[in-house]
Amino acid sequence: MIPDAPRAEISRGRVVVTGASRGIGAAIVRALRERGAQVLAVGRDADALDRLAHETGAWIAAVDLRAPGAPARVVEVARDALGGVDGLVQSAGVIRYQGVGAIDAAAVDEQVGVNLVAPLMLAQALAPELRATRGAIVNVASTLATRPAPLTAVYSATKAAMLAWTRVFAVELAPDVRVNAIAPGVVDTAMVRQPRLAPGEPLPDAPERLVEAQLEALRALHPLGRLGAPEDVAAAVVFLLDASWVTGAVLNVDGGLTAC
Ligand SMILES: NC(=O)c1ccc[n+]([C@@H]2O[C@H](COP(=O)([O-])OP(=O)(O)OC[C@H]3O[C@@H](n4cnc5c(N)ncnc54)[C@H](OP(=O)(O)O)[C@@H]3O)[C@@H](O)[C@H]2O)c1
Repeated sequence: MIPDAPRAEISRGRVVVTGASRGIGAAIVRALRERGAQVLAVGRDADALDRLAHETGAWIAAVDLRAPGAPARVVEVARDALGGVDGLVQSAGVIRYQGVGAIDAAAVDEQVGVNLVAPLMLAQALAPELRATRGAIVNVASTLATRPAPLTAVYSATKAAMLAWTRVFAVELAPDVRVNAIAPGVVDTAMVRQPRLAPGEPLPDAPERLVEAQLEALRALHPLGRLGAPEDVAAAVVFLLDASWVTGAVLNVDGGLTAC
């Protein structure tokens, strides 16, 4: 073995997962628990986290990641519950579909807070723990960081910023901590099951039909012919947690969306 080589098998270690109450984050918790990892699942919805804890045996922490002191709180709970941290997976995120002319300051604050400030500050807060264990960070960004779609200016900007700081952290924390990102295409979760309305466009009588039509159009953009499942992203997270010579990388997990 090479002295001081980065560790492999972090996906079987002690991992903090944000955005864990549903969607992609919950699938990541399940995948890591199946591999025998000790997981601290972080979200806001305490009932959903309770259900996940019963199902998977994960530790849970109900924390609003925008609240003052949230990073320190997660570090404290992680130390108490896990006794140390080998991996951090950041899946918490929020999107507000707003077109030019309808972008409001509250939605900007929320998306910048959850998608940019919170993960950057949590990565910083956990960096000493991760240095001590020669651990890894995986950030869940989006293909929207590089591939534009209407109504997503603020969200896309926050995810592009996430890719930027992922690379900077990768350089600063090397050789101790690997830092990578995943850029998912459209994954079938609650996040994308909301109507996307142009500025001034009224909500139709049957919004669920509009959502289905929108999802069908999005599906057609993916050469692999289907939307992603949360498990598709979870498998990539496991890969990046354990990929011992990969840092500062962005892995597209997008059914070929960005290939065309
Ligand atoms: N679905 C897609 O097509 C897609 C595509 C590309 C990238 N992504 C990214 O993938 C990640 C997961 O998305 P998803 O589809 O699983 O979304 P989702 O189902 O809407 O889940 C979002 C998660 O983020 C958490 N969250 C939001 N605001 C929070 C806050 N202030 N504090 C703590 N937790 C907060 C939510 O927790 P609570 O419910 O408990 O508040 C929830 O667990 C996000 O970063 C998203 O941007 C998704």
